[in-house]
Amino acid sequence: MKNLNHSHLPRKQTENLDGFFEICSLDDLRESVGKRFIIDDVDIALFKIKGEVFALSNTCPHQHTTLIYDGFIEDNCVVCPVHGWKFNLKNGRTPAGGKGLDNYQVNIINDKVFVKVVKKSFNW
Ligand code: FES
Repeated sequence: MKNLNHSHLPRKQTENLDGFFEICSLDDLRESVGKRFIIDDVDIALFKIKGEVFALSNTCPHQHTTLIYDGFIEDNCVVCPVHGWKFNLKNGRTPAGGKGLDNYQVNIINDKVFVKVVKKSFNW
């Protein structure tokens, strides 16, 4: 499995008062190539597209695989590499507008990527 890089994270991520965790530097993300992080037990996939960063749940609602980070980008969506379900990068929804992946707020401050990780109950 490629990009399984959470072992490179500091042992304890920094959380600020608003619930944002410092995840990585912008330079740690490659254009249109997802990267997986597990933050406070939440499995997320980060994508950098044209300088903008998107954070989605890494768990596909179809068969609960944790490979969204390995999906490819098409039409502003990430395509699950297992069976091809598509999810909008901005809101995690399917192209038909159905609930898909949880999405998380992202802040970029001084080239550092912060994500507001919210633990959530199952969404399938
Ligand atoms: S597991 Fe993602 S589309 Fe089937």
